[in-house]
Amino acid sequence: MSTHTYISSVERSNVLATNVAADPGRYRTLTGERPTGPLHLGHLFGTIRERVRLQDLGVETMIVLADYQVITDRDAIGHVRRHVHDAALDNMAAGIDPDRSTIFTHSAVPALNQLVLPFLSLVTEAELHRNPTVKAELAASGRALGGLLLTYPVHQAADILFCKANVVPVGKDQLPHIEMERVIARRFSDRYGAVFDEPQALLTASPDVPGLDGRKMSKSFGNAITLSMTPDQTAQVVRRTATDSERHISYDPKTRPGVSALLTVAGLCTGREPAAIAAEIGSAGAGTLKTLVTEAVNSYLAEHRRRRAKLAADPGYVQSVVRQGNQRANEIAEQTLDEVRTVMGTYY
Ligand code: TRP
Repeated sequence: MSTHTYISSVERSNVLATNVAADPGRYRTLTGERPTGPLHLGHLFGTIRERVRLQDLGVETMIVLADYQVITDRDAIGHVRRHVHDAALDNMAAGIDPDRSTIFTHSAVPALNQLVLPFLSLVTEAELHRNPTVKAELAASGRALGGLLLTYPVHQAADILFCKANVVPVGKDQLPHIEMERVIARRFSDRYGAVFDEPQALLTASPDVPGLDGRKMSKSFGNAITLSMTPDQTAQVVRRTATDSERHISYDPKTRPGVSALLTVAGLCTGREPAAIAAEIGSAGAGTLKTLVTEAVNSYLAEHRRRRAKLAADPGYVQSVVRQGNQRANEIAEQTLDEVRTVMGTYY
């Protein structure tokens, strides 16, 4: 992305943030995650806190548990049902209120998926191949490029446009996605008629959460602190983190990935600067650091875990939240598909 495009995205996002705060009722947001495994601190700091903030501001909030995206880069769908259930639990434990927000799954909303067909006609193969997120995920998958991975930005456009979401909270690495979604909305209007407005990116200042080995926190790297871990399990994964032989604790992500990841996680959970925590520990060593991190994470997550356990005690309730979410998503999607049929003339 060019510097110019990036600067105008930042400017647009700033204007959008002001407008959303002034008149939240005019906005609807869509965001979500792939139910490939338990949600972790990276999800919480990366997107979930921001969606709760928007919800509490009064923005209508739609959350897709993107089950069809699970199979973009792998052969097996895995324990998708359990992961959907757990993701719904974590969203609610974090403050998503099912009376105000909608939690739904791709596979239960046929009309959403049908939008992918006309949308596919609006993009070229070259545009799909150029998408940086597709390229990165392809490289990480170590597999041949599947049709679903190649076209998933278009599927994601359907996620956003089916409900006419006009605010999409993203990190800056996802701007190319939003750009493609805007292009699809624009081309649809040009070719068929005005059904979709261009969604806007709300850049979130969410921090990159390192996993315990210094790489990005990710289920597939096995370096994550999941939201559902017990305090003891948390202590265990923190203890397993590879640090180094230097006793004096300092913050230097390049040369000391393990130590610095621990400091960053402690910083996020306590709202302090990692370097300040390092200075305080000084030569007390990695053991002291690990104890501090474990306590910071466990006390930061204590309330989340308490609410999570309470909700988990009633699986029927969680299931009913997803079912009702799916029902509402279907109503919205069918209405949008009707408008699409009308402007395309495919109404019989
Ligand atoms: N791709 C997102 C993830 O990996 C999940 C997702 C699916 C999403 N559709 C979306 C996010 C639309 C934002 C908007 O977590």
